[in-house]
Amino acid sequence: MGKGKIRIAIAGVGNCASALLQGIELYKNDPSLKDDPIGLMHYDLGGYEPGDIEVVAAFDVDARKVGKPLKEAIFAKPNCTKVFYPNLPDYPVTVQMGPVLDGVSEHMKDYPEDDTFVVANAEPVDVVKVLKESGAEILINYLPVGSEQAARFYAQAALDAGVGFINAIPVFIASDPEWARKFKEKNIPIIGDDIKSQVGATITHRVLTKLLEDRGVKITRTYQLNFGGNTDFLNMLNHARLKSKKKSKTQAVTSEMAVEPDKKNVHIGPSDYVPWLNDNKIAYIRLEGLGFGKVPLELEVKLSVEDSPNSAGSIIDAIRCMKLALDHGEGGVLEAISAYTMKSPPVQITDSVAKQKVEEFIRERAKAPVA
Ligand SMILES: NC(=O)c1ccc[n+]([C@@H]2O[C@H](COP(=O)([O-])OP(=O)(O)OC[C@H]3O[C@@H](n4cnc5c(N)ncnc54)[C@H](O)[C@@H]3O)[C@@H](O)[C@H]2O)c1
Repeated sequence: MGKGKIRIAIAGVGNCASALLQGIELYKNDPSLKDDPIGLMHYDLGGYEPGDIEVVAAFDVDARKVGKPLKEAIFAKPNCTKVFYPNLPDYPVTVQMGPVLDGVSEHMKDYPEDDTFVVANAEPVDVVKVLKESGAEILINYLPVGSEQAARFYAQAALDAGVGFINAIPVFIASDPEWARKFKEKNIPIIGDDIKSQVGATITHRVLTKLLEDRGVKITRTYQLNFGGNTDFLNMLNHARLKSKKKSKTQAVTSEMAVEPDKKNVHIGPSDYVPWLNDNKIAYIRLEGLGFGKVPLELEVKLSVEDSPNSAGSIIDAIRCMKLALDHGEGGVLEAISAYTMKSPPVQITDSVAKQKVEEFIRERAKAPVA
């Protein structure tokens, strides 16, 4: 065990939450993973281990999750991510009804119940009160893409309850100066926006972009086509919800370019929903450029990943870095870890530099006395 518990609350008990909770139990209960921490960037992060993370509250709006023990809700439909740790503990947590607001898109009701959201007929709880009573230190926002109002509602609830906020979705909060200021003023830490998976399309595309840039190639065109079969991809069929997602994914890549190609030569975004893929996500990435002598070159990559464990691999470090900040009484945007784990941080930094800065952040706080 590490140096203490980290009490988290979750808004949106979907596939990402499932992968995170399964991972916490796997790394806690398989001793071989302590010596050989397969799949983790850090087993011990500043004195905290994955098994130190404890869920104390959870909010959702789906009839198959609300009112259910967390252990059951995690595996309820329409969640479809890989079950790699089925024997979850009996958490003392019942999933509570959140306000629906714009969390559920109209088009979702046109799909089979097993694949889509089914809104519960229940009154929302007082989220701030639940957060305070649960003793949560950090709230993670895992709402569907396009939940602009609902994401802001949970961000405000975190501010009102005095808990840190990790914004895993592409609604601009940490990267919005006004919201960042609110967190700074209350000295509450925030990490965001839009989780960058461990080895997902974004980081792969960023690294390849940087490679071409560093080798003197002028990038002339690029695309990144993504598709999958989970509710995230189903939700994103509604293009009206995609504005922030496309912006977030695109700027994550173009920020690595010295000179951006013309807008029409950059196409990055979610592209389709293929139900039988479930949580398997496929990304096709293509870069075209001009090398020595202005001679053209092309680079193409196909990535196939289980989407949600891939995001959990990043969140598990974001949570522990935020706990280190809380231990030291630090609030406002945590810039280095936001750059390392999020697609749209307030300050974009090349991934290798962000990694160094995160290691420094951890080292400095691991040795300093707890506030
Ligand atoms: N690799 C990744 O999986 C990845 C990467 C980057 C960003 N994200 C983002 O993280 C978010 C979560 O992804 P996911 O795969 O877990 O999605 P999901 O569709 O599996 O889960 C979303 C959950 O939110 C619930 N919900 C809807 N409205 C709500 C509300 N108002 N209050 C509380 N709960 C509500 C739904 O019932 C569902 O359980 C998405 O926005 C996704 O785009 C995921």
